[in-house]
Amino acid sequence: MGEINGTIISLDLLPMEHIEGVHYIQGDFREESVLAQLEELVQGRPVDLVVSDMAPNLSGNSTTDGARVEHLIELAVDFATHHLRPEGALVAKVFHGPGYDDLVKLFRNHFKLVKPLKPKSSRDKSSETFLIGIGLK
Ligand SMILES: C[S@@+](CC[C@H](N)C(=O)[O-])C[C@H]1O[C@@H](n2cnc3c(N)ncnc32)[C@H](O)[C@@H]1O
Repeated sequence: MGEINGTIISLDLLPMEHIEGVHYIQGDFREESVLAQLEELVQGRPVDLVVSDMAPNLSGNSTTDGARVEHLIELAVDFATHHLRPEGALVAKVFHGPGYDDLVKLFRNHFKLVKPLKPKSSRDKSSETFLIGIGLK
């Protein structure tokens, strides 16, 4: 592996295998104290890219699950709009379902360019897809 030129910060509820040069925060992104840890590492520097593939454990109740998914994505958008450099990008995992159109609107409210992307690695049957927002409005 080449040397990392920049800062990579990874955040998850679960422990993660150490990758050299990557800062790691184990915690719940919904908690203020965890966001504060992330912001401390960012140190006010403009961020190039925010990637969120956060997904809650599903309860089976589609209303509850949909609301949890949307909340995580809204938090990722909020973080991105406060910390991305003007031409930076947010890539977020979203799910096709009742809340999808609202999330596209949320992205369009904040980004100049919004594109959906279904990578080859994502199974056709899965409702997961990704939204990419580029350039802050
Ligand atoms: C689809 S997995 C992706 C995991 C990992 N990024 C990977 O590629 O293997 C979704 C991840 O979101 C994390 N997650 C769910 N809710 C979270 C939250 N509130 N704060 C931080 N991470 C969360 C889960 O712990 C889980 O590891």
